[in-house]
Amino acid sequence: MEKYTLEYYQESADYISERITERPKIAIILGSALGGVADRVEYKITISYKDIPNMLQSTAPAHKGEYVFGKIGQQPVMIASGRFHHYEGYSYEQLAGPIRIMKLLGIETLIVTNAAGAVNLDYKVGDIMLIEDHIKLNGHSPMRGPNIDELGPRFFDCTHIYKPELLALARSRANALNLNDILQQGVYYFCPGPNFETPAEIRAIRILGGDAVGMSTVTETLTAAHCGIDVLGLSMITNMAAGVTSDLLSGQDVIDTGKKTAGIAADFICDIVKHLGGGGKAYSEGHAPQEFS
Ligand code: HPA
Repeated sequence: MEKYTLEYYQESADYISERITERPKIAIILGSALGGVADRVEYKITISYKDIPNMLQSTAPAHKGEYVFGKIGQQPVMIASGRFHHYEGYSYEQLAGPIRIMKLLGIETLIVTNAAGAVNLDYKVGDIMLIEDHIKLNGHSPMRGPNIDELGPRFFDCTHIYKPELLALARSRANALNLNDILQQGVYYFCPGPNFETPAEIRAIRILGGDAVGMSTVTETLTAAHCGIDVLGLSMITNMAAGVTSDLLSGQDVIDTGKKTAGIAADFICDIVKHLGGGGKAYSEGHAPQEFS
């Protein structure tokens, strides 16, 4: 079969749909150290990436490599426990695959999470940043190559990639959970890694308008924007970015620090999921979140 076509992704989606009992409309991609969200899922069905035809394989540390289907509260969810990054060797085009499979499974709302370094000097380690927008000036688009018209148009809008209504819902839930001390809202700047950035790069990113920096997420959100999936993005601030303090950066420190705040983040994410509307849509009237009963 020709790679990266609708049929190619459909084969993966069919394999998954034959193994699940209910089709969720909400998906969550777990970043480094956020595995705890999957532990909060009930009635679990787990599908290993290894068994899915045409699927990418997780190689990054602290990324498991499986989908977990089940329920958070009353909401059916699909959780990607383990994501894919350009630094693993995947092309930007390949990184579109998992999101397209979600689309074919019927996902309407995607919550993306990641670990990120703080560029904004008002942020502190342990903060959670709601992603309001992103900057990706390097590398090309995951939508490069033949367009799949059934999924979305060749040229597509990116004005509201991070759905304002979902941001409003997240802010109101943070308020209800007394998380305002650690809640930030800002711009995620994509650096492909696997190296951490240099201090000069971080100073440049600050001038360009980045508040946090990380190595994931934007290929997923661009693919979601193309095929009409709404996105909410959350960055766990695991470190101050390079040069902000005299500390050197290490991947292990990022994971260890992430684990310390992962419980709060996981509770926050599950609470947001419970307050999304039944169809996964957070909004029917104005910005008011629907209660899901
Ligand atoms: N830079 C890039 N990616 C990251 C960082 C960082 O400082 N922290 C966690 N992921």
